[in-house]
Amino acid sequence: MSKVDIEKHASMWVVRINAPERRNALGRPVVQGLQEAADAVAKEKAVRCVILTSTGDKAFCAGADLKERKGMPEDQVREFVTALNRMMNTIANSPKVWIGALHGACLGGGLELALCTDLRVANQNVMLGLPEVRLGILPGAGGTQRLPRLIGVARAKELILTGTRIGADDALRLGVVNRVADDHVAAATELAAEVCKGAPISLTQAKRAIEGGWDLHMEAGLRWERACYDVTIPTEDRLEGLRAFAEKRPPVYRGE
Ligand code: COA
Repeated sequence: MSKVDIEKHASMWVVRINAPERRNALGRPVVQGLQEAADAVAKEKAVRCVILTSTGDKAFCAGADLKERKGMPEDQVREFVTALNRMMNTIANSPKVWIGALHGACLGGGLELALCTDLRVANQNVMLGLPEVRLGILPGAGGTQRLPRLIGVARAKELILTGTRIGADDALRLGVVNRVADDHVAAATELAAEVCKGAPISLTQAKRAIEGGWDLHMEAGLRWERACYDVTIPTEDRLEGLRAFAEKRPPVYRGE
């Protein structure tokens, strides 16, 4: 049985990790399934938004599969970490908007995976943390880079160097998650519906403008924004947006 399921709706797909017996830990089959899902979604013109979630009520993802890791020789650990990072980067650099719907344990690689999504919604029982230093390693799937960029160096150092686990309220306060809701999947679906009102090329380029520009010098950042904006100028969807406004109707975007 597949460890990653894909549910396809018109402009929104749901990608679900399905390994609750190991608390959705990132073993080889899960990493491969997520890689395939991320590759597939990137090619699908109709998709604008992806919700990343997982089965069971205990964990979004308990990080590296520690049982699988125990028997791995060093060279296989390196190989695995390379594949893990490739999968994470495919999600982070995806032309689609990814929303993480988080519940329960979201630890180690599980939090690093969540940090690759663009927006995060959690339920009240979420528990986030990067405990790697307590396991003799360090967050090696982007955690030491993505977390400080998201919440600042001092706060990221505190979470990484102490391995502290935080709950929903702290995660919201620190900006690790965008929203907390009783039903995190329903809230993520509502957020996805709002995202899906945007034109596909606009969404891709807006994400690209932010990702590629936020740490540049302002002048360079504004040039980068202009380059991304220019991609939208010759599109049919831009003209459709203007027509829909004039005709007082919702636009029908086709990603062209
Ligand atoms: N890798 C492999 N198996 C894992 C796992 C992981 N990261 N996390 C949990 N499991 C397995 C357990 O070994 C257990 O298997 P078993 O039934 O064969 O003994 C099963 O999932 C349930 O785990 P359990 O601890 O009983 O569930 P829980 O719901 O009480 O607690 C966690 C869930 C995630 C809080 C807890 O399992 C935990 O802390 N896991 C380790 C998380 C971690 O340190 N990840 C960082 C890796 S860098």
